[in-house]
Amino acid sequence: MSQGLLLSASLWTLLAGCPSSQNRNVVSVPCGCTIVVSSVPPQAGGTAFIIALMTLPAADWNLYTDRLRISRLLPTDNHAHFINQLYNSPLFIAGQGATGIDTDEKALKMITGFVESLFAKQNHGIYLVSFRHDVEAEENVKIGTVSVMKGDAFTVPDIGFALLPQYTGKGYAQEAGKAMMEYAMRDKINGGLGYDGVFGFTSATNVQSRKACESLGLELRGIYPLKVFGGGKSAVYTVKGMDKDLRKYGVEEQRLEE
Ligand SMILES: CC(C)(COP(=O)(O)OP(=O)(O)OC[C@H]1O[C@@H](n2cnc3c(N)ncnc32)[C@H](O)[C@@H]1OP(=O)(O)O)[C@@H](O)C(=O)NCCC(=O)NCCS
Repeated sequence: MSQGLLLSASLWTLLAGCPSSQNRNVVSVPCGCTIVVSSVPPQAGGTAFIIALMTLPAADWNLYTDRLRISRLLPTDNHAHFINQLYNSPLFIAGQGATGIDTDEKALKMITGFVESLFAKQNHGIYLVSFRHDVEAEENVKIGTVSVMKGDAFTVPDIGFALLPQYTGKGYAQEAGKAMMEYAMRDKINGGLGYDGVFGFTSATNVQSRKACESLGLELRGIYPLKVFGGGKSAVYTVKGMDKDLRKYGVEEQRLEE
């Protein structure tokens, strides 16, 4: 599907502004597109219903690698429970800090609000990583998340990953990350997200995460005080071939170190 069929910018804003999916019903259809039926609140000046076609991945969107299944993180109790577990593992807290999401209820609220609105706005966001071999099982084993998220200031997204501690040291972050980078940079006409680059941002002191970025073939472009992470020292990686001048992609901060 071409971008031409996508929503106008103002309509995107309106849909993205919905606090959750409560104002819209998302229905996947056989062509792989998604129909969004949106009841726009009268105070927003909307008509009763808007029907639009866009490329929002359906709830059953999956991407497979040799060992893994990557799927959308959905607002279900089961996924919320997993996120609560992951975000409170000592490894996650050491690498990313405490999120304050420390109950299943808070995790569900985060998925329903933040994650769902990211998908509505950007067409991508945070994904679950589980083992591929038990894909037919009702309860497949979830091992972590991989994310493709674009900060408002940037023109390309960044890739992120997190695993439960017992699944580290086996190359799963590398495998999931490679697949998602390929998806992010594949042309839209071939089902990708159509970006002309991908960042890897990580705290400068997060050794495992930096190794994972390097294992994806990302190149270090230096240490920057990225505002998006509170001005702390961030290692900035890019895929090979991205312009040397990172201002082109929205990085306005001055480099602190090579
Ligand atoms: C970042 C994080 C996902 C990296 O996990 P990881 O297990 O080190 O990374 P990978 O899954 O790619 O595994 C790489 C390791 O597996 C080993 N490995 C084993 N089998 C492998 C295989 N088949 N293929 C590739 N690597 C393999 C590699 O040698 C490497 O080991 P090493 O770290 O001792 O050098 C993990 O540390 C984490 O969840 N941290 C908390 C969250 C976080 O900080 N995220 C960063 C934000 S971007």
